[in-house]
Amino acid sequence: MAQPVNGDAHVHGDAETAALAAAARFVEIGQGAIDERGRFCVALAGGATPARMYEILAAARGRALDWKRVHVFFGDERCVPPDHPSSNYATTRRGLLDRIELEQRRVHRIEGELQPPERAAERYESMLRTFFGATEAGPPTACTFDLVLLGVGEDAHTASLFPGSQALTEERRWAMHTQAPGGVEPRDRITLTLPVINAARRVMFLVSGGNKSRVIRPLLAGLGDPGWPAAMVQCAGRTEWHVDEAAAGLADRVRVHGPNP
Ligand code: 6PG
Repeated sequence: MAQPVNGDAHVHGDAETAALAAAARFVEIGQGAIDERGRFCVALAGGATPARMYEILAAARGRALDWKRVHVFFGDERCVPPDHPSSNYATTRRGLLDRIELEQRRVHRIEGELQPPERAAERYESMLRTFFGATEAGPPTACTFDLVLLGVGEDAHTASLFPGSQALTEERRWAMHTQAPGGVEPRDRITLTLPVINAARRVMFLVSGGNKSRVIRPLLAGLGDPGWPAAMVQCAGRTEWHVDEAAAGLADRVRVHGPNP
């Protein structure tokens, strides 16, 4: 049974317009959460794709979003120190967090440097439970992010949930230690679990590049492999996809300019 893409798919001409659209939606969703609930709790994505979107958000600074009402979390982190070049926290600090007025107490990073990695996952989960007012036994559905921003890897992984990982069947824990496939460094990761991602009010995927079309094209057509982690994101709220034509597999489309023949 194919997993239909859950939500709205927006295909943009190129990575820049996809990043601009995603940044605009980020602000709309954020300000809506602030207007409704007085705060915006967002889990940011790692990897390279969101960098341009973060730059756009940083350039708009407080003109677009009341960052004093925002709490920033992370969908996943590599098990490296917070100043390591591979750290999602370090990347996000450079691109966004250090360029806006956001108090450090509102940035809730994953302590990827902790060893063993399970301790980092436990500490992150404990912080989430405290923040969202859940007990030690509270279900993942108590972790209600207003938005979880996600990317997708060439193997259809998302956050640090990789194909075939036992973490894909986790129903109780909110955060886990996982490992990327052999050869992918840093291997050790900390990730939100699927039940937490799916409990979000909204999920937004931002994907660009022809190297992703092998998975994005079927996903958007509702033909994604049910075992693909990105296909297992079935958010209780709304999911939206912002992809460029290359990722959607449309970049080879013949463009006809001018009046129709
Ligand atoms: C990470 C991300 C991961 C990322 C995808 C896409 O820590 O790497 O959480 O899920 O979103 O791998 O990465 P790119 O945007 O670099 O292609």
